[in-house]
Amino acid sequence: MLNFARDTLRDKLDAMTSTPTPRLAVLILAAGKGTRLKSKHPKVLFEVGGKPMLAHVVAAARALAEPRDIIAVIGHEAERVRAAMESTSQTSGLSYVLQPEQHGTGHALIVSRAELSKYDEVVVLVGDAPLLQPDTLRALYDFHHQQAAAMTILTADLANPFGYGRVFRAALNSSEVAAIIEQKDLEKDPDKHDPAQLDNKEINSAMYVFKVAPLLAHLDSLSTANAHGEYYLTDMAKLLRAAGERVVAFKHSAADELLGGNTRADLAGLDRKMRARKCAQLMQDGVTILFPDTCVIDSGVTVAPDTTIEPYVQLLGNTSIGSDCRIRSYSVLRNTTLADNVLIRNGCVMEESRVGDGATIGPYSHLRPGSDIGPGAHLGNFVETKKVKMGKGSKANHLTYLGDAVIGAGVNIGAGTITCNYDGVHKHTTTIEDGTFIGSNNTLVAPLTIGPNSYTAAGSCITQDVPEDALALGRARQETKPGWMKKRREAAGNK
Ligand code: UD1
Ligand code: CA
Repeated sequence: MLNFARDTLRDKLDAMTSTPTPRLAVLILAAGKGTRLKSKHPKVLFEVGGKPMLAHVVAAARALAEPRDIIAVIGHEAERVRAAMESTSQTSGLSYVLQPEQHGTGHALIVSRAELSKYDEVVVLVGDAPLLQPDTLRALYDFHHQQAAAMTILTADLANPFGYGRVFRAALNSSEVAAIIEQKDLEKDPDKHDPAQLDNKEINSAMYVFKVAPLLAHLDSLSTANAHGEYYLTDMAKLLRAAGERVVAFKHSAADELLGGNTRADLAGLDRKMRARKCAQLMQDGVTILFPDTCVIDSGVTVAPDTTIEPYVQLLGNTSIGSDCRIRSYSVLRNTTLADNVLIRNGCVMEESRVGDGATIGPYSHLRPGSDIGPGAHLGNFVETKKVKMGKGSKANHLTYLGDAVIGAGVNIGAGTITCNYDGVHKHTTTIEDGTFIGSNNTLVAPLTIGPNSYTAAGSCITQDVPEDALALGRARQETKPGWMKKRREAAGNK
């Protein structure tokens, strides 16, 4: 790959071809409220595959443009939408146009006029169609050039096209388009539109490529004389064709990629498809997934080959899993990193944690944020950890809470041990050094340091530091009263 700065590369290409490379923008329509979701939250921030829909669209747009040339039209909850995009490196650095009142997809372009006038071409995408793949976008863009069109519409045949705008070709088998007509307008005006047209299964994806000059020249001709009383961008097909411009359709065979999310049911369908795609990709890359339909794997998750994921596992956020791991059923991992050869037994909940090579966790362990479990370590049933660094080969196998603790290598934590890290006001640290044995049912009152290779007796409440190699007993000495029960029984019988 040549490593020129983008502008230099463009200059070189221009010099080679003598026609200037067109300046290309990608405009993403993301201002709408999402009325059909019946929500107070902006539609484009609804998540599918564990990420906002708009983030997926931005990721696809990156196939064609640098972030600064990707323009999001925002309006409803604009600041929230912008903040969400700018909060992660994958979607930050975009340009934004504000559409404070949303009068339709055509209006979104009307308010973007000044921004668009800086470019020669614009790809228009919608923020609620997250399954679009980068390759499809490239193919659409290439087709637009090959056809020398003023407007190219990405379409597909849908078995159930209900709700979508339909694309009407100028003639049978022609790539040219006469008009796009919205569902409601097809239904409303049977005189104008033959009801048989509702059978047209070729849908408008609302994704297009335009030459900017003819687009801007005809924007003012859009009207609101339609069933929604909005400016429809779809009307641009008819307008441009009437002006003698070439308007074509690029029909895509993978119709799923074009689906939009207007209702909660649509979102569930998109989410399911995206997760199925993710599982298929992981399996393709060498991961074993048993009953993949039952697993919930976010799009940002990575898993190395030869790992096995059992049924009903959830891998969320930016979780990253090494090779030869096994994640048993009902475990939920969020933003967690596993090295290689890790066994997660059934029913673990792990968040913002790290686990080293060959460690074994669970069943039913709860790793809260900041748990850093060393290689070969074991955490067992009902062990809860938070902000804990645990060294190589250390073990806490049963019924334990470890919070704000630094635990060395080769440490054994007995069943039922608790770090008392919170005095009601402040959190304090417990340090347990290498090779130490903490007896069962210990109460470790922090701040506390237990020196290396020491030993605490079972049932101890440890409140003072323990030096290296020491034995610490922190419990009342047992008192045994011989015959006490016998006496009690006799006393009761005498009554
Ligand atoms: C639109 C198309 C329809 C197509 C469908 C594909 C129009 C008139 N209709 O319908 O032909 O089949 O998409 O999914 O274009 N938005 C704005 N500002 C606005 C209005 C909308 O930014 O003023 C944004 C929305 O946030 C959304 C996108 O544009 O992300 C599409 O709007 P939406 O209302 O969902 O259009 P559809 O009814 O789905
Ligand atoms: Ca939509």
